Parts: sequence; C-alpha cells; structure tokens
Amino acid sequence: NAMFSWQRTAYHFQPEKNWMNDPNGPLYYKGWYHLFYQYNPFSAIWGNITWGHAVSRDLIHWLYLPLAMVPDQWFDIYGVWTGSATFLPDGKIVMLYTGKTNGSVQVQNLAYPANLSDPLLLHWDKYPGNPVMVPPPGIQDDDFRDPTTAWVGPDGKWRVTIGSRFNTTLGLSLVYQTKNFIDYELLDGVLHAVPGTGMWECVDFYPVAINGSLGLDTSAMGPGIKHVLKASLDDTKVDHYAIGTYDPIKDKWTPDNPKMDVGIGLRVDYGRYYASKTFFDPHTQRRILWGWINETDTENADLRKGWASLQTIPRTVLFDNKTGTHLLQWPVKEVESLRLNSTVFKDVLVEAGSIVPLDIGTATQLDIVAEFEIEQLESSTTDEASDCGNGAVERNTFGPFGILVIADDSLSELTPVFFRPVNTSDGSLNTYFCTDEKRSSKANDVFKQVYGGEVPVLEDEKYNMRVLVDHSIVESFAQGGRTVISSRVYPTEAIYGAARLFLFNNATGVNVKATLKIWDLNSAFIRPFPFGETTI
Ligand code: FRU
Repeated sequence: NAMFSWQRTAYHFQPEKNWMNDPNGPLYYKGWYHLFYQYNPFSAIWGNITWGHAVSRDLIHWLYLPLAMVPDQWFDIYGVWTGSATFLPDGKIVMLYTGKTNGSVQVQNLAYPANLSDPLLLHWDKYPGNPVMVPPPGIQDDDFRDPTTAWVGPDGKWRVTIGSRFNTTLGLSLVYQTKNFIDYELLDGVLHAVPGTGMWECVDFYPVAINGSLGLDTSAMGPGIKHVLKASLDDTKVDHYAIGTYDPIKDKWTPDNPKMDVGIGLRVDYGRYYASKTFFDPHTQRRILWGWINETDTENADLRKGWASLQTIPRTVLFDNKTGTHLLQWPVKEVESLRLNSTVFKDVLVEAGSIVPLDIGTATQLDIVAEFEIEQLESSTTDEASDCGNGAVERNTFGPFGILVIADDSLSELTPVFFRPVNTSDGSLNTYFCTDEKRSSKANDVFKQVYGGEVPVLEDEKYNMRVLVDHSIVESFAQGGRTVISSRVYPTEAIYGAARLFLFNNATGVNVKATLKIWDLNSAFIRPFPFGETTI
C-alpha cells in the first residue's frame, strides 16, 4: 500500500490519509491533549476544508476521532477554516474559527462543545446566530481570517486579534473586544501593522516570561512579561515573529527592535513550516507550539501516496533571556519517551575537508544531540558569504561543519545539517545554521532548497544542535532552539536500513571536535480511537 510508503513518518502526527494543513484550536482538557486541523476528507490536495480531530495523553501517541466540524451552514459552507480555543474562567470552552460563507466572504464564527462532561469533546455546536464578526469597512471580504485565542484585559473585557491587510501590502492585526463572545466591538487602530508584509494569516499573540522556565496563560501581562506577535505571511508562506511589549490600555503592541519587526526580522522556523499556533498547557505550565509542514514533492506524488503533510513535534516556547532577542523552541520532553538504545561519541576529530561515518546502523528514526568545538589552523580573511550560501559545498575558513543525515553508504544521497561561522569585517564571527537539501534525493521532481538563518552563539557556548530524524522530515534546533529548521526530504536510496549518519567538516581552516549522543527512536502509536474496546 502506497500509503505506508517509507516517506510516511513514524512519530510525527499525520492523518491516516488525505490532506492536512494548519493546526487548529489546540487545547488540554480533562487529561487529553486535543489537536484539530484543517483537513480534506476526500483528497490529498487542499479543498473541502473540515476540522479533523485527534487526542493524545502525551502529545506523541495520538488517537484519531471523527471530524469535529464540517462545512454544513451558510456561514461556513465553503470551508471551516482556521481558529483557536479560549477557556473561560467558569471552565467553558469557546472556539472561534473562520468560515467561508455561501457568498465567499470570510467571517468569524463561534462554536462550543456540545457536552463539557465528555473529555473527548466529540461534538461541537455552532452558534446559530453566526457569524459573530464580518469584514469591517476597508477590509476585503477575503482578507479577514484566523482568530486567535482570546485574552482578558484589566477592564474585564476579552480581546481577540485577527490578521488582515490594508491596501494590498500593509499587513496588520485587528483587535475586537467582547464580553460574551457573541457581540464584538472593533477597536480603533490595530494591534500592530507592518508595511510591505501583505496579508497576515494565522496570527498568534501570547505572553512569555522574561525569567524562568514556565509558560504563561494567554491573559498573563504585567512586569516580567513580554509579548510575542507572530504572523504567517501569505505572500511568502513563512512564519515570522517578533518580541515586544503589549499595552493593554491602548491595545497596541510595540516591537523591542523595530528593525526586527514582524515579517522583516526573525522566523519561527527557517525551513518548510507554516501556520503555527501556540496554546497554554495548564497541566504542565508550558506554552506549546504546533506547526504545519507541507510536502515539497509534486501534487501528483501526493495523490499517488494518498496523503500530504504532517505536523512538527510539538515544541515548548520560552523567552531566551541570554540573548534577550530570541525565543527558544524545544521538542516537548515527551518525545524522549520514544528513545530506545543510545550511542555516545566523544571528542571525535573531524579534520578540515573530511567526513567521518558514525557507526549506528539504520538511521531513519533518530534523536541526535551534538556539540562541536573548533580549533583554528590558519588565520582567516574576511568571508564574503553572509548566509547559508550555496549549502554544504561552499567552503569558508570556519565552516561549514555538522552532520549528514539520511545519507546512504556511498553518499549518493545526503542532507547536511550544519553551522557556518562567517568572519565579519570587524573580526567577529556571525554564525548561520543551515540545512542543505540539494543532494537529499535523486528524484528530480522534488523541491530541494538550502534553508537557514543566523544563530547567536555566545562567548561561553559551544556550537550545539539537536536533530530529530523521521524518514522524510528533519527537524533541527541550534543553540538550545534559538534557530530552528524543518526540512522535508525524499531520498530514493537512503531509505529504511540503508540510511546512515556521518559527521562532516568542509571548513578550510579549522578542525572540529564533535561529541554526540544519538538515540534510536521508537515509532509512536497514531491510529483510530478504539471506540468499543475496553482499554486503550
Ligand atoms: C493558512 C490558511 C488560513 C486559512 C486556512 C484555510 O494556511 O490559508 O489562513 O484559514 O489555511 O485552509
């Protein structure tokens, strides 16, 4: 069955079949994590959008449930689009989502669980008075979507923000106030706007603590708290964030650094990644981030294999108070429950221009933790390159060095994940963290890119990376999660038992010393909910 082809992942969330896009309304309720998602029940390409639904005890093993919402009302007949959940103080749950109406207008709708005593939240009622918000004057009918989780201000009123654009290119997020989630008032001005960024989809807005390792509930504000604003840019299909300050009186958000504003600064993930959304997990006091990973093969290939796309391993999100400029994203600790046997390699010397095999056998499902130190051999000149360049083949004094994942023995296919420290004119190093898909597959009809972005490496830090390998996805985290890259690869040789792992150092002027711990990862159970069975 093509559905169970090797490209299918073993521990990333995917529907049994057909198309999935954005994560929707993630929440924790009565012992279960719930994930809803944009889903086409009929095909492996986008269309007929409903809300798929799955639950998990631990964010890793998942049970599919029946569709939560389908397009069956005039206010969502062309699609039950992206939305978010809000918990009210009395324990009720409200779900706000975008519907595409019978007149092709994007409106916001309200839904709630039909039965709050059901931990599975199987049935959802749509408010009969929907829609609760329609595009305001000046906003196009198809530029008004993806309401956030609501938060409550000091005046006791709830706020929700909704991405849009004005005059084609001014990306922005509108703010509505409500007391009852039925009647809404559009506030003057916007939460924030950035010229040239176009339509903002899937806005996410949440607080982070400046100190400590706990996540915050969405309504947290005050001293010691910053606010993150994230937008998914429709024009470029990438997720951007910025860290700043929220003023709950004016309902305005200001970036800490205007040069790194939303859409022109940091990216949530420098790879194939979109439509991300966080939620607060009250059970473990974490803020957890979901993100959608699209395919990069052809639509025909997706139709043939009968499915398309997956979600990342959920990640905790914290403010990085060491840099003060970045978030830290890290795979939830529950993924470590999949760890099987491990192998340690200590102080492996990787000389300039060399490749060292890591003898761990099959390398399709791995959790890799690696640390690198460099020893300079020659004095360096200023480097020209200021990014990931042409990938792993482009040599500098200090890099690239890192690992080759999903490679076959003869290196006919390989995906380098690497650091590239670049010598700047003032003598300091700027480091880039990159993934190079160019030789990841012999297939010529897949999209192969060099991905990456800058990563701060502080004075007292070694270069470190964590890499999750799962057949056709590689999720890579540098410096504790300051810079993250998700990459889809479609090898034809480096599959199943033929996949191997290597170290490489393509620098001209440094030797590298690498220390690694590598775990084989088990597959997760991801299957239909066993209704009717007595144990699960
Ligand atoms: C983002 C998005 C959202 C929309 C949904 C439709 O990928 O376009 O803006 O609500 O997908 O499926």
